Amino acid sequence: MRPTSLLALPLLLLAACSSPARGAGPRGPADAHSFAEPERVRVSHVALDLTLDFEARVAHGTVELALRRTDPEAPLVLDTNELVIEAVTTPSGSNLEWSLGAGVERLGRPLSIRLRAGDERVRIRYRTSPGAEAMQWLAPAQTADGRRPFLFTQGQSILTRSWIPLQDSPGVRVTYEARVRAPEGLTAVMSAEQLGQDSLGAWRFRLEQPIPPYLIALACGALEFRPLSERCGVWAEPGVVERAAWELADTERMVAAAEQLFGPYRWGRYDVLVLPPSFPFGGMENPRLTFATPTILAGDRSLVALVAHELAHSWSGNLVTNATWNDFWLNEGFTVYCENRIMAVLYGPERAATERVLEIGELEEELATLEPWQQVLRMDLTGHHPDDGFSNVPYTKGALFLTRIEEVVGRERFDAFLRRYFERHAFQSLTTDGFLADLAQFLPEARRGVDLARWTTQPGLPADAPRPTTPALAAVDAEVAAWAGGRAPRELATEGWTTQQWLRFLRGLPAGLTGEQMAALDEAFGFTRSGNSEILCQWLELAIAHGYAPADAALEEFLGTVGRRKFLKPLYTALMKADPERGRTLYRTNRARYHSVSTGTLDGIVGG
Ligand code: BES
Ligand code: ZN
Repeated sequence: MRPTSLLALPLLLLAACSSPARGAGPRGPADAHSFAEPERVRVSHVALDLTLDFEARVAHGTVELALRRTDPEAPLVLDTNELVIEAVTTPSGSNLEWSLGAGVERLGRPLSIRLRAGDERVRIRYRTSPGAEAMQWLAPAQTADGRRPFLFTQGQSILTRSWIPLQDSPGVRVTYEARVRAPEGLTAVMSAEQLGQDSLGAWRFRLEQPIPPYLIALACGALEFRPLSERCGVWAEPGVVERAAWELADTERMVAAAEQLFGPYRWGRYDVLVLPPSFPFGGMENPRLTFATPTILAGDRSLVALVAHELAHSWSGNLVTNATWNDFWLNEGFTVYCENRIMAVLYGPERAATERVLEIGELEEELATLEPWQQVLRMDLTGHHPDDGFSNVPYTKGALFLTRIEEVVGRERFDAFLRRYFERHAFQSLTTDGFLADLAQFLPEARRGVDLARWTTQPGLPADAPRPTTPALAAVDAEVAAWAGGRAPRELATEGWTTQQWLRFLRGLPAGLTGEQMAALDEAFGFTRSGNSEILCQWLELAIAHGYAPADAALEEFLGTVGRRKFLKPLYTALMKADPERGRTLYRTNRARYHSVSTGTLDGIVGG
């Protein structure tokens, strides 16, 4: 448990950060989730020099920040969260006056540094806390190979401030460089160009493209690299790297397809790092180096849409970034749309449509559980943590909005718009209003066919949302109906079914299955033994709801290794409904193995 009393502060305090005095400044909208005042003093470059102490679970060293000063009177205001600030100086070492402001729940504390005339750089000596939210320090037993410890960071949405003091707002862009000292035998990788090790053995990195701070990322462990093409490759633990390379063999074709669709890939290399299973997300689009969960390694390449997704962020999100977390759908809705286009090029329109149908099903199910404010694309997160707005809405509703516009203006027009959009706003941040203004100017006919205000500001799914159907899924529905009508599982026509078809099948089963029915399905299709994380998770959810004991061991194994929030959330939710005592016991056993992103959600479901 994180031993901070800040967590006890009332949620309302979150609003304190967006004082009315900080309205939309000349250089962008106010960010309610950052203390920084970039319109007065802006950080433009970050130079890190850190030592990783795996025993203490702490990183310590210095960061030097280069500044652009607009208001000569203004202090530099940075975001921090549980950082221990040791000294603030100029690069030459003269002390600067600084103070840490009061803590605000989940946002951390502002670090104000008084600048003198001519101060263009500041150096901060600091250390992280063992509980730093962005960092997960893994014991050897939590890795695939079990021999060495592992560290990774997760910056999105507002966690970078827990390992680097900086202006942690997506409306601020920085270039960065880093020196990282790590224990002998461990390899450090970052969302940057790797420049090798210096004479002292420190790993060196540099990123020339300006990025929002949530994309600064670091991982360190026993890692190996396998090239997939000239510019693509995969990093993973030695025991995983071959499997990973096989699974991700299509990566270069994806990059090539994306470039055809969206314009040049602007980041140099595109590599994927396959992390230990506690990684809380499916994937994270860290520039040049997507971080991915090993649960996509299904052995049949059926879950690679995730790579298409993270790759697509190289345009939507990393090149053109949501200005504040209110505009999160600009990152994710565009990315789901682009992901789907990449999938269509590589595997055909039928496969892409299948993925879309499944996504719509998940969205509709989730909408029923969301408050109205969470169902809109342009969200008002004042008084909320960005994570409170996380759902399928920014993803799938966002993508459907763009698909609807495409439907109305025609694919050719929309593709041209999209390519120019990425070009026009490259390396900039954009609000929803900025996007709508862009649309009005460069694709005015969209407005005539689509109710843009309805889509962006109203809850629910508009009636004109595109709803594809696919023969592959219709065939599954027919088999579910046949089963419901009494046909034995073994008699169903399931031969050659894809992962997506199996997911449809499991989601289509009626509630209230008997133990006998569960056992017959399991016997026929081997769900409990499935090596496919998506199928297994879907099955385990059913197993919990129906008290199907033969899956208990598989469930315990899954909860004890996988830290991906998307899987843990439905499983613990089902447990708390079916057998709260068991849910609490399992959570107590496993909580220490999960990343703060996952426990942040699960504490609210199970009770911390
Ligand atoms: N950028 C997100 C992950 C994220 C979102 C981290 C918000 C922190 C806050 C990433 O691109 C993502 O969407 N990952 C998905 C996979 C995707 C295929 C939908 C995931 O992790 O499940
Ligand atoms: Zn995404």
